[in-house]
Amino acid sequence: MCGIVGYVGGKEAYPILISGLKRLEYRGYDSAGIAVLSPDGLAVRKCKGRVSDLEAHVNGTPMPGTTGIGHTRWATHGEPNDVNAHPHVSANGDLALIHNGIIENYAPLKEELISRGYRFKSETDTEVLVHLIDDIQRKEGTDLPESVRLALENVVGAYAIVVMDRKHPGMLVAARKSSPLVIGIGEEGDHYLASDATPIVEHTRNVVYMEDGEIAILDKEHGLRIRNIKNQEKHPSIQALEIQLEALEKGGFEHFMLKEIYEQPRSIRDSMRGRLNLAQSDIVLGGIKDYEKRMVNAKRILIVACGTSWHAGMVGEYLFEEFARIPVEVEYASEFRYRNPVINEEDIVIAISQSGETADTLAAIELAKGRGATIIGICNVVGSSIARVTHAGSYTHAGPEIGVASTKAFTAQVTLLTLMALMIGHRKGTINGAKFQQLLMELDAIPAKVERVLKTEAQVKYISEIYKDARNALYLGRGYSFPVALEGALKLKEISYIHAEGYPAAEMKHGPIALIDEEMPVIVIATQGASYEKVVSNIQEVKARKGKVIAIVTEGDTVVKGIADHVIEIPDTADALVPLLAVVPLQLFSYHVAVMRGCNVDQPRNLAKSVTVE
Ligand code: G6P
Repeated sequence: MCGIVGYVGGKEAYPILISGLKRLEYRGYDSAGIAVLSPDGLAVRKCKGRVSDLEAHVNGTPMPGTTGIGHTRWATHGEPNDVNAHPHVSANGDLALIHNGIIENYAPLKEELISRGYRFKSETDTEVLVHLIDDIQRKEGTDLPESVRLALENVVGAYAIVVMDRKHPGMLVAARKSSPLVIGIGEEGDHYLASDATPIVEHTRNVVYMEDGEIAILDKEHGLRIRNIKNQEKHPSIQALEIQLEALEKGGFEHFMLKEIYEQPRSIRDSMRGRLNLAQSDIVLGGIKDYEKRMVNAKRILIVACGTSWHAGMVGEYLFEEFARIPVEVEYASEFRYRNPVINEEDIVIAISQSGETADTLAAIELAKGRGATIIGICNVVGSSIARVTHAGSYTHAGPEIGVASTKAFTAQVTLLTLMALMIGHRKGTINGAKFQQLLMELDAIPAKVERVLKTEAQVKYISEIYKDARNALYLGRGYSFPVALEGALKLKEISYIHAEGYPAAEMKHGPIALIDEEMPVIVIATQGASYEKVVSNIQEVKARKGKVIAIVTEGDTVVKGIADHVIEIPDTADALVPLLAVVPLQLFSYHVAVMRGCNVDQPRNLAKSVTVE
């Protein structure tokens, strides 16, 4: 949440900052702002709205200078408006600061600063920081890095901040605690800073991921120095970025979300690459190899995640229970952390996160780690905080996901959970050799089958046109398809703002059935498999109340075709793999409905992709 960029070096900062903010806009788009330092002073431009609004606001007026910072905001304290937009500036106009996170003790700090004569312009928690640093500079006579360090000693909360000072041209000071920051090291003293690597990759591939409690000084003349909060020097560990620039562009698609839906045959394949070995009938997950035995012997697995990743976790529950015969509990990370859960040293905790930065998931990991559990991560973003705090893990390799509504990350997470569950089941002997081999073959065939599902897009678009004005929608599924129903409902509500609920098909009669009328679309996953007949009965119950049924069925189905209003066919596969196929038409349905309703598909209102606040 909130995107941060910074640049110091020999080039003009403004174009670098603007293009960086565009890359980070998925992190929040309530307001945007830029500050640039030049020999003439500090220029700041900021406004409510998106980065394109900021560009219009700047309106070609040059902001010359080679040191600058930029911010795109997801509002926490104070409504999204021009004044609350970052950067925030000190009273003397020397300091400019941007922040991602929440300063929890901002109220007492603010009171104290006010009592000493500081005047606040905004309602943000962030403004406290800039006055605090200014105050320390005045009182202690310290330089910028030391003033930032002393200020942070008084701060409780989460932050990634970047500060610049008119008195120190050619320098940026950054600090992180629980909110991500990446430093890019370019040529000839060029240094970049950002909340993630996406704005950096077009300039350099050499990056340093900042650790919690670190303060970085990026200096045009003296290069990069890193200290911790106790003022001890640290040696920066430089890593090479592997992101491809094309992965950050729309590549001819109208929206990132559609591009990412269409990438799924490839992203699922990439999640399996080098791991699924059909010839040797084996699965190898290098990242968790040392923990395999512990997983095989686990008495219990806890899965912690949020949002779409939590839905993937639910599929994981079914998979681990069926194939590895290990009891699984799937937990909302935000609930888990606050209810004193029972965790012990034999527990395996699987943390799932696309961004690897979700604050609640991180906190749940810390809690479980503190109680001795083994933490296995499933993350998409390489080098992310969650990937670094877990004991071991596997990357999903879905590539950058830019659309705020998660699509390819979900199918990659489910693919990885499938690989893990099958591998543990195989090692443990809870799945026999023939079944294991058959499932490996089925899994290997999934990317090609997703290609076939994508061919239903025109039909899905036609159905979307019919239901685009619905006020409510119900999604039903059973077994492996229940989490898919939840995910389908989430996709519809988050991007088209239609109220939607996902339900276990059989539970419908305990409540949601009361909502069904002639207007209400009911989307049912009714593929061939263990609960097919039961789900067909549920469809009959909906039809008896004149509900409109859109059914996802297995190719060649004739029974549901005779009852439902619309059917979308997907290829036959094993029950356990149905989520990987059935979710695709639901993604396409929500996409087209949202487009037809004129919604901003890639940046839905109020949401952000990387939720770094509790
Ligand atoms: C936000 C995003 C969702 C995502 C959830 C969890 O709500 O909009 O798409 O599923 O966070 O994020 P994570 O990065 O931990 O998977």
